[in-house]
Amino acid sequence: MAEDPDAIENLLQESRVFPPLPDFTAQANVADSSIYDEAEQDLEGFWARHAETFHWFKKWDKVLDWQLPFAQWFVGGTTNLSYNCLDRHVENGGGDKVAYHWVGEPGDTRSITYAELLSEVCQAANGLKELGIEKGDRVAIYSPMVLETVIAMLACARIGAPFTVVFAGFSADSLADRIHDSGAKLLLTADGSNRRGSVFPLKPQADEALKSCPTVERQLVVRRGGNEVDWDEQRDVWWHDLIPRQSDTCPAEELDAEHMLYLLYTSGTTAKPKGIKHTTGGYMVGTAMTHKWVFDVKPDDVYWCAADVGWVTGHSYIVFGPLANHTTGLMYEGTPDFPDKDRWWSIVEEYGVSILYCAPTAIRTFMKWGDEYPGSHDLSSLRLLGTVGEPINPEAWIWYRKVIGSDKTPIVDTWWQTETGMIMISPLPGVTVTKPGSATRPLPGVSADVVDKNGVSVPRGHGGYLVIKKPWPAMLRGIYGNDERYKKTYWSEYEGIYFAGDGAKRDEDGYIWVLGRVDDVMNVSGHRISTAEIESALVGHPSVAESAVVGRSDATTGQAIAAFVVLRAGVKGDENLLAQLREKVSEDIGRFAKPKSIVFTEDLPKTRSGKIMRRLLRDISEHRQLGDVTTLANAPIVAEILERSTESSGEDD
Ligand code: PRX
Repeated sequence: MAEDPDAIENLLQESRVFPPLPDFTAQANVADSSIYDEAEQDLEGFWARHAETFHWFKKWDKVLDWQLPFAQWFVGGTTNLSYNCLDRHVENGGGDKVAYHWVGEPGDTRSITYAELLSEVCQAANGLKELGIEKGDRVAIYSPMVLETVIAMLACARIGAPFTVVFAGFSADSLADRIHDSGAKLLLTADGSNRRGSVFPLKPQADEALKSCPTVERQLVVRRGGNEVDWDEQRDVWWHDLIPRQSDTCPAEELDAEHMLYLLYTSGTTAKPKGIKHTTGGYMVGTAMTHKWVFDVKPDDVYWCAADVGWVTGHSYIVFGPLANHTTGLMYEGTPDFPDKDRWWSIVEEYGVSILYCAPTAIRTFMKWGDEYPGSHDLSSLRLLGTVGEPINPEAWIWYRKVIGSDKTPIVDTWWQTETGMIMISPLPGVTVTKPGSATRPLPGVSADVVDKNGVSVPRGHGGYLVIKKPWPAMLRGIYGNDERYKKTYWSEYEGIYFAGDGAKRDEDGYIWVLGRVDDVMNVSGHRISTAEIESALVGHPSVAESAVVGRSDATTGQAIAAFVVLRAGVKGDENLLAQLREKVSEDIGRFAKPKSIVFTEDLPKTRSGKIMRRLLRDISEHRQLGDVTTLANAPIVAEILERSTESSGEDD
């Protein structure tokens, strides 16, 4: 643990409060606070009652089996998430309802109903079977924001083939690492996708990755970009050649509640990403119920979660939670500034979007672009706004409510993680008095707390570490293939308590304010990246001897990546090398991980035991008063780094 959150400069004294409007409360899915007491009185009974509203082939024998730190929920029950997301609604007469309005960046669109989605998922499932995929086989998915990505996820869930979606912004190397770790047998990709008016090629990266992935036998390719691609006749097959000719019925496998649904790789404090394992039954109940409570979803809503499907937000709140609730969703392929900076708002107006869920980075970007873009559209259909992924500063919160939400929509600031699978801390929009910048309090059935170094709850008005004290249904079931790392990362800091890695403050009213990571994990635009991953990419360059990376505050992206690089003897640090280093990170990890600034230095500030003083580098990057440097082994280097940082930091915008 690197920081003491009680020492973290105490935020803002934010005093504005926003009680729910009576009209909103009157129609809300959760209209009073009795749900908290209900969960408190009988946690297992509470989740079991909600689980009963889903389809189970066989009901569970036991709600929870908790062998710390390994949980099993709905033990002995069998179900199928694809069935619960699709067949259940179609059988109940809801097949004609639109499941997704999909909007392509160039302007092509498609609306797909639940009945159509079910048929296409069945065809895709049959196609996967034809390619040799069976229950238990892993499928990797490296594809853009197209409906086929969602169809493939549901098809995998249908036949019990755990999938792992790799965000399309990751590089070939990162994709290969994830395929190695998961042992995937098939890769789904696309030729390319549309980004900011041009085609971003994907298959070349996938092909590159597959050079080192012997477990992958077949590659299924969606045509989207229309770009030229290489083709391996033995291995590659077009989606449009395989899937449409399949039968559109495919029975949903009866799967154990604890059957692995997916793996999702996320950064930790080392360079090797962790395969977070999620299973079927508890995840279904957790994501669907939280989606219903937090977003207050009603049959007529048009709900837009603007995350990428490659992150956990996309898994839980574009795909599984919303479909389980028979929601009409919206998916947009491209960037918010194409053809102009009002693209999102024109989509909101055209489709009558009523609920919007996005990251603070996006909100800050829109703020910077100016009010005229949202101002030129009718946004009156919006009735609820949400944020996720990073702390939201009160100014951005207020702007979001005023400019996007007509000064009346509730805002739900939702705290959760890849590991938690579902939203854990959030207002309930019909019940909670919100404060800009606070995720408020744990949801019903969630025992999040803020504790001190010894694991004791901190009193009101104090800071500490965010933890979760009791198991919850959508919790991770482990790190794939690495139980030891699972125990060490999440369960070793405090006896019997899940340590989330975030610092938080509990205010005088008991509200939780999440302050950010306390470990060496950065949060750039809501994407988690470890300092170690970037450092290892940098030292992989032949000119680099050593490097240290820190996240520094950035007005738009939350944190920006600042790198300090020690070059090998005789190498000169110039513009050309700066560009090469940025390119190296982009190639090794992905383009979203490029450092914003790189400073060449003779040495790095280190303690006498040889540990790099990242906190000091952060202070330098943020132009803060430096603390005591006398414990450093090489104190004079600090002055030198300071000088170089102001001289030329190689800023990349
Ligand atoms: O630091 C917290 C931050 O994002 C981390 C989780 O990142 P990831 O697993 O990529 O999932 C992001 C989307 C669920 C957390 O440890 N974080 C997430 N939501 C918030 C947040 N920080 C402050 N406020 C939030 N609402």
